[in-house]
Amino acid sequence: MKRQFLTVISAVALTAATNVAVAGDVAAGKAKAATCAGCHGANGISAVPTYPNLAGQKEAYLIATLTGFRDGTRKNATMNPMAKPLSDADIKNLAAFYSSLK
Ligand code: HEC
Repeated sequence: MKRQFLTVISAVALTAATNVAVAGDVAAGKAKAATCAGCHGANGISAVPTYPNLAGQKEAYLIATLTGFRDGTRKNATMNPMAKPLSDADIKNLAAFYSSLK
């Protein structure tokens, strides 16, 4: 009985730790976005008509489209090389950052 209780407790602790790792980190995303700011703006609002605004965009959409740029399923000569070096964690953090901007 005691052993079973401990198993439940560690499962809960593990789930909590996993959730932290899964959710994007806004501060880490902001740091990573330094290389994106030249085109998409420091506040996610672009100054160039052909560069899209990212501020307030849906987090899940940003994850999906950045993953697409990285993996080549979404093709764009500018964005494919920008997304190439991004890890899954980088993408989640960038998505959390841009979606948090208003
Ligand atoms: C040299 C300029 C430039 C840089 C630097 C740049 N981007 Fe982009 N980005 C673009 C352009 C141009 C597009 C539009 C691509 C298209 O038409 O498919 C775009 C599109 C996007 C989109 C898709 C927006 C949408 O509405 O579908 C996302 C997300 C994005 N960029 C994120 C980033 C991130 C994150 C970085 C930094 C790692 C970055 N970009 C760096 C120029 C840039």
